[in-house]
Amino acid sequence: MAEPDRPDDGVGGAAWRAAQRAYAPYSRFRVGAAAVTRAGTVFTGCNVENASYSATLCAERNAVAAAVAAEGASLDLVRVVVVTLDGESCAPCGTCRQVVTEFAPDATLRYLREGRFVERSAADLLPDGFEPGDLR
Ligand code: THU
Repeated sequence: MAEPDRPDDGVGGAAWRAAQRAYAPYSRFRVGAAAVTRAGTVFTGCNVENASYSATLCAERNAVAAAVAAEGASLDLVRVVVVTLDGESCAPCGTCRQVVTEFAPDATLRYLREGRFVERSAADLLPDGFEPGDLR
């Protein structure tokens, strides 16, 4: 079991603090994410649910959106760290894999799997994903 109150590094801690602010009254599954740029800047997000369930936003996408809002098209994303408040597994959903791939297929996603952190590239997590170059 991971110990989410003792995250493995400062970035994990930032994601953990974001998870504490998650708005998840329906699932009660609180997720935090930290998007890290090549320069080392960290942007956080948490899941934000909605009574209209499909309007729910994942932590990872909110972290990436915060990074884009601050850095724009020059965003150089290298890693997205994902934690849950309960320390249980949370592999990034398909939509979040797609969103990270848009900015950086080489960026890694670091997330909890059966109580341990695993780290995989967005490209590995979304093989043959639809990318900007596919638009004609
Ligand atoms: N959730 C995330 O924030 N990230 C994921 O990668 C998977 C799921 C959130 C969405 C929803 O608020 C809750 O977890 C249950 O699906």
